[in-house]
Amino acid sequence: MKNIRNFCIIAHIDHGKSTLADRLLQETETVGERQRQAQVLDDMDLERERGITIKSHAIQMDYTGKDGEKYVLNLIDTPGHVDFSYEVSRSIAACEGALLIVDSTQGIQAQTISNLYLAIENDLEIIPVLNKIDLPNSNPEEVKDQIVDLIGCDRDEILAASGKTGEGVPDILEAIVDRVPCPVGDPKAPLQALVFDSEFNSFRGIITYIRIMNGEIKKGDLVKFLNTEKDYYADEIGVLRLEREPRKVLKTGDVGYIISGIKTSTEVKVGDTITHKENPCIEGIDGFEEVKPMVFAGVYPIDSEDYEDLRASMEKLKLNDASLTFEPESSLALGFGFRCGFLGLLHMEIIQERLDREFGMNVITTVPNVSYIAHTKKGDVFEMHNPSDMPDPNSLDFIEEPYIKAQIITKSEFVGSLMTLCLSKRGMMTNQQYLTSDRVELTYEMPLGEIVFDFYDKLKSISKGYASFDYFQIGFKAAKLVKLDILLNGEGVDALSTLIHFDNAQSFGRRMCEKLKELIPRQQFDIAIQGAIGAKIISRETVKAVRKDVTAKCYGGDITRKRKLLEKQKKGKKKMKQVGNVEVPQKAFLAVLKLD
Ligand code: GTP
Repeated sequence: MKNIRNFCIIAHIDHGKSTLADRLLQETETVGERQRQAQVLDDMDLERERGITIKSHAIQMDYTGKDGEKYVLNLIDTPGHVDFSYEVSRSIAACEGALLIVDSTQGIQAQTISNLYLAIENDLEIIPVLNKIDLPNSNPEEVKDQIVDLIGCDRDEILAASGKTGEGVPDILEAIVDRVPCPVGDPKAPLQALVFDSEFNSFRGIITYIRIMNGEIKKGDLVKFLNTEKDYYADEIGVLRLEREPRKVLKTGDVGYIISGIKTSTEVKVGDTITHKENPCIEGIDGFEEVKPMVFAGVYPIDSEDYEDLRASMEKLKLNDASLTFEPESSLALGFGFRCGFLGLLHMEIIQERLDREFGMNVITTVPNVSYIAHTKKGDVFEMHNPSDMPDPNSLDFIEEPYIKAQIITKSEFVGSLMTLCLSKRGMMTNQQYLTSDRVELTYEMPLGEIVFDFYDKLKSISKGYASFDYFQIGFKAAKLVKLDILLNGEGVDALSTLIHFDNAQSFGRRMCEKLKELIPRQQFDIAIQGAIGAKIISRETVKAVRKDVTAKCYGGDITRKRKLLEKQKKGKKKMKQVGNVEVPQKAFLAVLKLD
């Protein structure tokens, strides 16, 4: 136990965690030359393509220190985007130390701070590392000042490295061994293992990732999951090298996996404690946050016959991503589907793409919204995850919406335009602080509903990428919200309804209709697009009819070309949904995100 070090890497997005993690694997010869492939840990296709980490991963390395001792290092890689902070908090709970990576060209950013706080709350030893020092525009001295200010360490405790060239990487390994405490825990106590992740594997069933806090587990043991109160045999246990490596026993302080023949995802809860059936531990490991979805949207199969398949796919996905929540719902326009809860918009996009790639599910996602609290005149109070849950305005007393505290760190030249943006999103500034002469931290209170749409993109474009943003929820406040409905040829499309602040409803309705006009293709008849609040129509656009024979262009008889065109048209249709007599493309359901 004294030679084990469990640590994670935390950083703002793109500050170079994955690159550095790869370097550590290389330096410790965990990855052979042949297996070398950039970003070994980002093994999901989607992660490689987007160059971001979505899931946390764990991997074990062997390292011989300068003191000649052999150490086992367990690295848990964590994602940096604000939407995935839940993954970060789970990983952190399984570690004793954290490398805090700061890009020396960018300095401290919003998620550097929020992830750091998470690590400090969990009493992790922090090792600050200045990264990307190979870059000519790197600014090590100034960024060191920022780090000293932030965590109150000595300047010489800050390491400098480059994930690209490998410079400074050996020092990081030494620092991990020297500074990160070894795990504590009682090897003789009853087994207590923390479930920090799980994954569905089509051959093996569910693989549960664990960190042993106390006691030990042997292959074949009968174990109990405290939270679900179910028993299983530990058919296989082992450690996580590049592949899973079976072992006979896992001891206090170890990080590894257990395969126990669990087939259904609902039986494993991340954050749960595993113990022995006989001689169990008295209580579970606490300090684990329940996931709070922030954004809700309907997810519907394009083909309604796929509903059951979609349910099965979502159950599997949930196992791998505990932050996803879903419950059945039905829509007049879209049929049967699910109302899903996401951590944010990027999370929603990722889930949609994973459904498509990993499960071949073609889905339509509806306009995202946050959860509201409705108070009726009779005194009933209930939560709404869907605009269609909105009670009749006559019986409604008032609505409350969730508020967040937002922290924005930016260069001072962008402060003015960022303030204008926040104001347009109903933000109230509560603090403005200069971190250095040209870096400012702005603190705002804002409705969460305003930032789920396009706030992040706008923030980035206004600041040319030089603003970072983080937020946490601070409770609910009453607001004057109305439900805006969209009608297509006089028929309400529930999946397009949104709750919107009264003052913005007019312009929002108008822009929504304009956008839909762009997105809904012309069909054989006129399509009237109307925005309405209650019975009152507030905006209208028309998509003119067209009578176009797609094959008309191919005068003459090239039949293969004709067939190709028809195929192409058929494919295009797949992402369409029939609403009444109108065909509506998927894009249109998300029109609200693209409003100017
Ligand atoms: P997420 O996984 O999305 O949170 O990002 P990350 O922090 O893991 O960053 P990643 O390792 O993917 O690196 C982001 C970008 O910076 C990539 O284009 C890397 O090639 C580049 N990069 C990382 N480390 C260095 C470095 O030390 N020097 C230079 N020049 N570039 C680096």
